[in-house]
Amino acid sequence: MSTAEVKTTDQAGIIQIKRVGANLGAEIGGIDLRQPLNDAQFSAVQDALVANELLIFHDQDIDSAQLKAFGARFGELTVHPFAPSDGNDHSLIKFANDADSPPFGTDVWHSDETFRAAPPMATVLCAKEVPEVGGDTVFASMTAAYEGLSDKLQDFISGLEAIHDFKPFKSLFSDSAEDRETLQRYEREYPPSIHPVVRVHPLSGRKVLFVNPQFTIAIKAMEERESRGLLDTLFHQALIPEYQFRHHWKANTIAFWDNRSTQHYAIHDYYPQRRFMERVTIKGDRPEGVGTADPATIRRAKFEAIGGADPHGGHKPLPQNERD
Ligand code: SIN
Repeated sequence: MSTAEVKTTDQAGIIQIKRVGANLGAEIGGIDLRQPLNDAQFSAVQDALVANELLIFHDQDIDSAQLKAFGARFGELTVHPFAPSDGNDHSLIKFANDADSPPFGTDVWHSDETFRAAPPMATVLCAKEVPEVGGDTVFASMTAAYEGLSDKLQDFISGLEAIHDFKPFKSLFSDSAEDRETLQRYEREYPPSIHPVVRVHPLSGRKVLFVNPQFTIAIKAMEERESRGLLDTLFHQALIPEYQFRHHWKANTIAFWDNRSTQHYAIHDYYPQRRFMERVTIKGDRPEGVGTADPATIRRAKFEAIGGADPHGGHKPLPQNERD
């Protein structure tokens, strides 16, 4: 299953891209993220991200400024309105969880901040301190999750739109007059967003199932009961182990995931042990659906450029009900 890929470029030297998951996930070697990426490295990493959806970099002892510089190479860093950050630097999220500070809200399948009109295109998460046992993160390829649906269901959902809302973060606000006012301000700033249920990846042109149980509250223009039933079916796709990759953290490991084509779930099984992570997110575009994506603007992912890492080799995985 895991094939070592070696990419040689003039400026980048040798970058190793080793596929580690059947449907997503590759380990990247041969790059020191303490240094700025040159153009060849940048484009190799960007192509690898689109093709593999999740990249893992081991043994990267980088500081916060270097983490931000790495993220900013791929686009403007964004500020999460509700996540814990360093007081002065809101683009750097700090998940510092221990006996006094339990993790909040990341143990639900989601892609980051889909309540925004333009959710982040990617996220970089760096492990600083990890528990002795537990604290893994599970990722799911929502490309594979889409491809695993029956043709009939793919057709049915292809023109639908869904409503995304920041509802889980509302519990962070108390009933005080000040908190109520702040929450109302956030509600004005982040009204519910409408996104296509089937998103077309802007670089690969592949179709992605783009609903998640953390932020997707309803399918637009459907009865509540119909919407709930359909969403339950679609949410279930991320739970199928074949579409997942479970990442076990070591300190100084970095995960860089494509937020347009994946979901993730942080396993909250380590509390009250300490786990300390730093994260940045990179600005994305408004999601385009099947009918709205302009084929002329879609650049096919350069699978061949990294040695043909298309996990399906051009074949679509069988839906669950057609497997042995
Ligand atoms: C997140 O970005 O949802 C957190 C992931 C993690 O802590 O592993």
